[in-house]
Amino acid sequence: PPSLHEAFEGKFLIGGTLSDSMLENASDPGFAIVSKHFNSLSPENCMKWGNMNPLLDQYEWELSDRFVEYGHNFGQEMVGHVLFWHSQTPDWVFEDENGAPLSKEALLERMRERARLMAKRWGDRIKIWDVVNESIEGDGSWRKSKYQQILGDEFTELAFRIAMEELPTDAILLYNDYGMTDPGRRDAVVAMIQDFKSKGIRIDGVGMQGHWEMSYPALSEIEDSLTAFAATGVKVHITELDLDLLGRGKFFGANVDIERLKADPATNPYPDGNLPPSEEKRFAERYAEIFDVLLKHHEKIDRVTFWGVSDLTTWLNGFPVEGRTNFALLFDRQFKPKPAFYRVLETA
Ligand code: XIL
Repeated sequence: PPSLHEAFEGKFLIGGTLSDSMLENASDPGFAIVSKHFNSLSPENCMKWGNMNPLLDQYEWELSDRFVEYGHNFGQEMVGHVLFWHSQTPDWVFEDENGAPLSKEALLERMRERARLMAKRWGDRIKIWDVVNESIEGDGSWRKSKYQQILGDEFTELAFRIAMEELPTDAILLYNDYGMTDPGRRDAVVAMIQDFKSKGIRIDGVGMQGHWEMSYPALSEIEDSLTAFAATGVKVHITELDLDLLGRGKFFGANVDIERLKADPATNPYPDGNLPPSEEKRFAERYAEIFDVLLKHHEKIDRVTFWGVSDLTTWLNGFPVEGRTNFALLFDRQFKPKPAFYRVLETA
């Protein structure tokens, strides 16, 4: 089949990810897809604080170095994912040697050290950085994370100041989040960008993760967010696109009995990985509709990155519960292009 990134040349970059298991297995069949179809690359896990630096004085460079090497050899635009996130970050980051909460100054120093180390090691090769991930709730309030407990509502601003000072001057600094089509979060992100700009704090783009479902979000909400973010003068990156065919809404909420739901065959209807043709078609059409919207607004968008390579290893087989056979990406469990792949190609 033709190359995806070639098909979208002049519109936006097309990215994918390298998982830790690919980084550990040079003969993973996913590499044929990654090198042919993507011209941008994100690390799925290896650069997260807990993966890179699980204990105070312990650094795991190997997988991340390998990630950067692959991206460089493939000539891809690489993404540093992620400097500061409340998740996959160990408790020690926020504590002193006695387990007491760090002072504001001490936490900022730790954050600065992390940015400095990453910039020193990869700053000449990684151009795009997710500086802060998911610090804003759907209602527009600041997330009550450990960062927020110590640094207060200025956490995101202080993180961007550190990134601006420690990363190369031509680095592209992104704020990244899910649910960026929810009006409360959208408005808060717009207000934050305006606030940063008025204070001279660099922010170059917004990452809309794009962990979307078959009927969430509405296409009009995607358009409204693209328009609102671009109007502040930043670029939009779709940073983690996938479509959760099985859906996850039913696993969240106050009175949900997770164990009963997990045991219910209706929550995992295609355990052998064979999707009925009608579902395959519905999935492909949803992808095509989304790409039609992205193309209509391509001048606002620098990059569209898929979160993963194939349905065999998509994280959605394990989220929000383990053990599902999910359908999320353009390549199937045998690494073959799906009908959705061809429909997306047709939109270009
Ligand atoms: C996910 C990875 O894909 C999984 O392998 C891991 O177990 C959990 O994290 N938002 C993000 C990504 O910014 O880093 C997450 O990646 C998915 C949600």
